[in-house]
Amino acid sequence: MNKFFISNWKMNLTVADSIVFSNEISSAINESNIKDDIEIIICPPFISIPYCFQILKSVSKIGAQDISKMDGAKGAFTGEISAKMVSDYADYVIIGHSERRLNQKETNQDVALKGTNILKNNMTPILCIGETEEERKTGEYISILINQLNESSKGLDNKMIVAYEPVWAIGSGNSCNLEQIIEVSGQVKAIFGDDTPFVYGGSVNEENCQELLSQKEIDGVLVGSASLSLDSFIKMINSINSD
Ligand code: PGA
Repeated sequence: MNKFFISNWKMNLTVADSIVFSNEISSAINESNIKDDIEIIICPPFISIPYCFQILKSVSKIGAQDISKMDGAKGAFTGEISAKMVSDYADYVIIGHSERRLNQKETNQDVALKGTNILKNNMTPILCIGETEEERKTGEYISILINQLNESSKGLDNKMIVAYEPVWAIGSGNSCNLEQIIEVSGQVKAIFGDDTPFVYGGSVNEENCQELLSQKEIDGVLVGSASLSLDSFIKMINSINSD
């Protein structure tokens, strides 16, 4: 299976900054002889997607960070962006990120609706799940995660990338340890099949990226803040190559 390197820009970079950064990372990827079995996916804010697509299309895929749950390609839904609208540029869409579950109160049911819209438009959902620190402490985190995944992936027929992002590890500087990630990967793959890609996100950086990607149980990484620094981005890309 391919390994995935997914860069989530979140609510960062203006259009002008996105253009500059895309040109920089395009050069970095070109100079780094990335292996064929690595799929790089860059997820800019919606407004920058068409520009980033033009600059990055020969070196990476584009992902959107979210999508409307409303059914259909268009309609009277102020402020919404449909899956159809991004499908000219994107091959992937992140859904169910814990920041959206928390800040926008998105439910598993909302996430499942989004997933279906993504598949209908021939893109692949990157479905995020993750437990809070309190949930981990209860010891019930595996059943919590599997329930999140079962409910959020209704109707997807396992056509998704599962992104395990423990809430306590995101943006904290404290990545989950390998044993913890591998335990969750084993549980997810036992239920959803070995062919369902399992990626990890949460404080991935140039120090831990290579080790994470070299585990057979981990099919890729989803990187937030470290992928916004050109220096870290280049180091992570190069570490992929040197394993
Ligand atoms: P982080 O974010 O790498 O900054 O921890 C990851 C994510 O939320 O996708």
